[in-house]
Amino acid sequence: MNDSSTLWWDRDRDCLCYIEQTLLPGEYKTIECRDIDRLATAIRRLEIRGAPALGVAGAYGVAIATRTVQGDPFTVFMSGVTDAAERIRSTRPTAINLGWGIDRVLAMLRRAKDKNEAREIALREAETIAREDTACCHAIGEKGAALLPERCTVLTHCNAGALACSSWGTALGVVRSAVEAGKEVHVIACETRPLLQGARLTAWELARDGIDVTVITDSMAAHFMRAGAIDAVIVGADRITHDAVFNKIGTYMHAVCASNHRIPFYVAAPLSTFDPDNSEREVVIEERGRNEVTTMGSRVYVPDGAKVKNPAFDATPMELITAIITETGVLRQPIDTRSLLSPGKS
Ligand code: MRU
Repeated sequence: MNDSSTLWWDRDRDCLCYIEQTLLPGEYKTIECRDIDRLATAIRRLEIRGAPALGVAGAYGVAIATRTVQGDPFTVFMSGVTDAAERIRSTRPTAINLGWGIDRVLAMLRRAKDKNEAREIALREAETIAREDTACCHAIGEKGAALLPERCTVLTHCNAGALACSSWGTALGVVRSAVEAGKEVHVIACETRPLLQGARLTAWELARDGIDVTVITDSMAAHFMRAGAIDAVIVGADRITHDAVFNKIGTYMHAVCASNHRIPFYVAAPLSTFDPDNSEREVVIEERGRNEVTTMGSRVYVPDGAKVKNPAFDATPMELITAIITETGVLRQPIDTRSLLSPGKS
């Protein structure tokens, strides 16, 4: 099965490379990035997206800053690097992984005594984060695969796959690991309005790997659940507070519906997505631009006189979630995210 990376550092060219996701599935293109402002734009435009991938991008962003920021003495240089890191952090507010990746590299940078050391340390830590992310996804995959029946249909929302991570994926990592273990898994991918991460990205990467996938519009999900056509729902997460799971807008409606039809609703996410000290009301839900809702391609579907709302994420209360699959174990009801501070749960 394909386990190639979504974003990586090219040491020969000394730059970040990534798959430009807004062009998929029509065009597969990789971009070289050596500039903080370009990276900020890439994150805002969702060229790089998905919580774990944002964590890795934030980490590489600090590595880029150590290469581009000017300034002497070293303290001035370091404050320039920190400013650049803050510019990256401010691009998207909901996925906690972005700030987590940035902070991990900034913390390591405290050991640096000069610019060369700072460049080396930042890159080494960012590469470690990328490698660990892939390892987490495989661990999540294995733990989650064990929850699925031998033959099943899994509904997923948005893209929590290889493209949303360093590779392999969280929700789709579970599917990949189950398929690798010989299970027969069919995936129903909700298209995920307004930006169609399900139709464009989930379907693309599963079809590329030969995994059976069917795309439906978001509004068809309830119909298929009621018809008994869905055995489990598996989604990723952008942030998990002690009381709710934040994920792509539309996730909450699938959770309500799955609960109504007694279908297990699983969230697959690494520990870096958890924010157990905060609650739902402390989290900022990113509000995106009007044109993402009004326009498809070059056609406008909403009249100028109508207002539009475009929250990018919603919150699903913990009681609607059957279990959260992490790299260290599966959290079941009653889900206590604070218990994650002591590893080894299963
Ligand atoms: O706006 P996006 O495309 O970055 O939103 C992504 C999601 O909501 C994913 O489901 C989430 O980040 C989990 S990715 C493993």
